[in-house]
Amino acid sequence: MRFSVYKSTLVIALLGFVSFPSHAQKHVADTASIEQRISGLLAQMTLEEKVGQLTQYTGSQLTGPASIRKTTLLNSIREGTAGSVLNVKGVKDTREVQTVAMASRLKIPLLFGLDVIHGYKTVFPIPLAEAASWDLDAIRQAAHLAAREAAASGVHWTFAPMVDVARDPRWGRVMEGAGEDPYLGSQIARARVLGFQGEKLGGTDAVLACAKHFAAYGAAIAGRDYNAVDLSPQQLWEVYLPPFKAALDAGAATFMNSFNALNGVPATGNRYLQRDILKGKWNYQGFVVSDWGSIAEQVPWGYAKDKADAAQKAITAGSDMDMESDAYHNHLGELVKAGKVDIALVDDAVRRVLRKKFELGLFDDPYKFSNEKREKQVLNDPQSRVAARQMAEKSMVLLKNEKAVLPLSRQLHSVAVIGPLVRAKRDLDGSWSVASDTTLTVSLLEGLTRKVGSKTQLRYAKGCDVTGDSRAGFAQAVETAKNAEVVVLAVGETWNMSGEAKSRSDIHLPGVQEELFQALKATGKPIVVVVLGGRPLIFNAISDQADAILYGWWPGSEGGNALANVLYGDYNPAGKLPMSFPRAVGQIPIAYNQQYNTGRPITKPGDATYKSAYIDGANTPRFAFGHGLSYTTFKYSDLKLSRSQLTAAENVQVQLRLTNTGKVAGEEVVQLYLRDMVASVVRPLQELKDFKKVHLQAGESKAVAFTIDRDKLAFYNQQLEWGAEPGEFKLMIGSASNDIRLESKFELLP
Ligand code: BGC
Repeated sequence: MRFSVYKSTLVIALLGFVSFPSHAQKHVADTASIEQRISGLLAQMTLEEKVGQLTQYTGSQLTGPASIRKTTLLNSIREGTAGSVLNVKGVKDTREVQTVAMASRLKIPLLFGLDVIHGYKTVFPIPLAEAASWDLDAIRQAAHLAAREAAASGVHWTFAPMVDVARDPRWGRVMEGAGEDPYLGSQIARARVLGFQGEKLGGTDAVLACAKHFAAYGAAIAGRDYNAVDLSPQQLWEVYLPPFKAALDAGAATFMNSFNALNGVPATGNRYLQRDILKGKWNYQGFVVSDWGSIAEQVPWGYAKDKADAAQKAITAGSDMDMESDAYHNHLGELVKAGKVDIALVDDAVRRVLRKKFELGLFDDPYKFSNEKREKQVLNDPQSRVAARQMAEKSMVLLKNEKAVLPLSRQLHSVAVIGPLVRAKRDLDGSWSVASDTTLTVSLLEGLTRKVGSKTQLRYAKGCDVTGDSRAGFAQAVETAKNAEVVVLAVGETWNMSGEAKSRSDIHLPGVQEELFQALKATGKPIVVVVLGGRPLIFNAISDQADAILYGWWPGSEGGNALANVLYGDYNPAGKLPMSFPRAVGQIPIAYNQQYNTGRPITKPGDATYKSAYIDGANTPRFAFGHGLSYTTFKYSDLKLSRSQLTAAENVQVQLRLTNTGKVAGEEVVQLYLRDMVASVVRPLQELKDFKKVHLQAGESKAVAFTIDRDKLAFYNQQLEWGAEPGEFKLMIGSASNDIRLESKFELLP
């Protein structure tokens, strides 16, 4: 033992001598020196300056015309009583504001935060769309390019990724996350954190990530934003927490808490979530920012009697930074002086915030992210546009394609391009596009115009608006359709119909858009419907009668080019739904992994008498989780399991063969689902446990392999212990949760 310690010291000394420290040694040294520098600063800070580091304001007015708010904010920054600002961006503005912080007594740099949710100047598809790609490398790359642009523009910190599992499409914020599945959601959470934070914090192409909203915000009752959440501990631990743990394991620098109350306790004042789980059991070393005003919102929740009480509850529960409540600024100092809050809690929170500022390198150069030349170059880098187009292509889901109406032929003489979103640009960017130049967004019409050759004439008619009940444009749209060989109809939601505070009680395609479809259908022309929106929508007439449906989501700056590439087959679609699409609002929640066999399953199709069913409709969704077609077809065969029985220490190796049986190259997402047949807590009919995205040339065949380990069999029992129980497991492998191609079973031995 002594010898090995001696030996490693010698190695370190020698390496030091040749001044060639390993990465790990340098990291330990950096960390130690950062902690020392923080201690040095803490020793000099007044209580007001400490509280300042825990205070974040929106800076929208900081760079605008003179106002009282502007003067107050600038004074706060100069006095060292604000530690972070959100919504200031751009090298010029961030530099200007940072200069004020540098004039403060201790010269502690500000952190600039912004909601860089799906791109910065270059808008990538909305996160839910990206999730439909099931392509972790592409998602990571998209986050990285967004970080690169934001960091070049003076931004230090993005309030992303949102890793809330979301199973209710009425909730407008489903657009910001990865959908309804905790396994897919965890993989994507990891990819996004790694993408945003790059190789290492401190790089000028990296920003701090923020895993939000901790926790269970996605389970808002009735899909109404900001609402209460009532969850069983099993659901919390199995479904809602895993993506947060994955984000943490990937190194997420910060967390944001949430607006909801969880089982009666607002998340911001929730000790169990923030102290016991996050900073306790998970040993999280980053900091937690409140959501906008959520500290003060504990008062209307009826959890705190006033703002002072709210500040006390939040800091005690582990909320480190106050976004826009002014509760810490106004009350935390006095709470410490009155002995109601231990200064050690404040010091710990300040240490967490300062640590990130050090890790970004701001103490060494507060203007590190403020280089005008780099900003210009990075924001105009064509590489980002290419990546945005590719990501958009990967995110699109071909829901239906009858008689192979898609891809469109270049031999067509005339295509009618109809609908309220054909010329849309802002709507293609979607909600949370905070720095985009909408004029640069490519509309569907522009994309198609560039795509088609001189042989094809495109004829446009709007038909109707997205909302409202005017049918005045129908006649012209019908005429346009009659004169064309094929109709492409673009319908959906405007950019502000999904997103924060955009919950809807009715998620049917809005306005008279489906009526327009029916009027066009009556012409007998083949109709391809492109749906653009921020959530799963209901459009039953289109689902039944359209010849093809392409779900394009809100695809971002390059949306029109990506849509044109998919419609014309220059890109073969491979997207798969990350959320179930209901047939009726009354079916919600309808997430695939919330389906149980029940004591009264439907056993005979069509016979629902005294079964767990509806008397006025089906149990199944309109489009299932994992669904998505391709222009080619895939055959699944030769399933082999390495064993049919395993002990706790063993794994099952699963192998199958996937063959592209069509005429063009394509990609398939092979999905592996399990069901634990008998357990001490009843299990869902299907749970996604793994997937592989496989590229195959026409006619090509590849072996696909998975490993099932004990972790994939485990769940939380009634005592909240994580573990696998002996017994039989059903294995399902397929192209969608409702398109299982291969089945088997195995047994976990006691
Ligand atoms: C949202 C957060 C966002 C914050 C700052 C809040 O209203 O819930 O997700 O990061 O505003 O813009």
